Amino acid sequence: MNQIEAARDKLKKEFESLEDKKAILRSIELRALFDGIREVEPEKRGEYGKAVNALKQEVHKWLDDAEAEAESANIEPIDVTAPWDVNTTADKRPSFLPAAQGSEHPLMSEIDVISDIYQRMGFVVETSREIDDDYHMFGSLNFPEGHPARDDFDTFMTDEGLIAPAHTSTMQNRVMKKYKENLEKGEPIAVVIPDRVFRNEDLDATHEHTFYQIEGVYVGKDVVVGNLIETLKSYMSDYYGEELNVKIQPFYFPFTEPSFEFAVERPSSLRKNNSEEQKWLELGGCGMIHPNVLKEAGIDPGVYTGFAWGFGIERMVMMKHGIEDIRHFESANLKFLRQFK
Ligand code: DAH
Repeated sequence: MNQIEAARDKLKKEFESLEDKKAILRSIELRALFDGIREVEPEKRGEYGKAVNALKQEVHKWLDDAEAEAESANIEPIDVTAPWDVNTTADKRPSFLPAAQGSEHPLMSEIDVISDIYQRMGFVVETSREIDDDYHMFGSLNFPEGHPARDDFDTFMTDEGLIAPAHTSTMQNRVMKKYKENLEKGEPIAVVIPDRVFRNEDLDATHEHTFYQIEGVYVGKDVVVGNLIETLKSYMSDYYGEELNVKIQPFYFPFTEPSFEFAVERPSSLRKNNSEEQKWLELGGCGMIHPNVLKEAGIDPGVYTGFAWGFGIERMVMMKHGIEDIRHFESANLKFLRQFK
């Protein structure tokens, strides 16, 4: 078999030096390996043949990879500046990519799907903001100044102290105030907020500095943890089209009491090597809204209770579509995007 290993190394070198990569399929080295089958002793022939075939497949894989790479290198970069006089009339402007070649970003279409599900469940959809203040990001959520839990939401801040929100919970106080009248009419507050958040993160396949969360807020009379779990489970079955096992473990957030971490069980078809490690997908946090947070929004915690949650949208979408790296979403890689067209 050493002979095959050696041939592989030679082939790889040859492949790397080739201008026309396809020529590797006509390589003398490769042909010699196939011709060699006849010379191998009959009882070793099967094993030898298998190894040669595996090598041939590997060579095909090199070719496929090289072609894919060449294709993405050929996609012309889009000039995002406006390299013409912006005051010219439309007919004198350069032509742009035809709109038919574009498509909605997969995250945006998934957000529509997710929002539709919640709307059918009776939630209204609100948007968050890309810049906010300390009160909404922390103060109204029961994080006193200097509280160590603020460190878990390390994000970007302007010199004036404005904050790029690290979570959609930054909207909790506003939506509770906005829909407070519902309670007076005997109706619940039921709002979801799918929007962008920002974090000072170390990037890897499951962490981005800019990503989307969906926040949910539900307040009414006699609302208990069971309602929280049922709501989230029912959403999950709708989104994934099958009932998934969920796991809820105690956690800590200043704005919920009790607080939980929520995970769903990946269907085994979406688990690499069916590994235990990949069994649970952490989606985010949830819990019963802390009385101080209700009070801060002018709601009497002695009369009303509620639950809230904040889940990562990319993670939900990644699991649904088998996307292995969160960075694809922001990469503007047309080969990735076109798969969702
Ligand atoms: N904001 C939290 C985060 O980004 C997630 C979260 C936890 C949101 C509990 C909630 C909640 O609404 O009740 O990690």
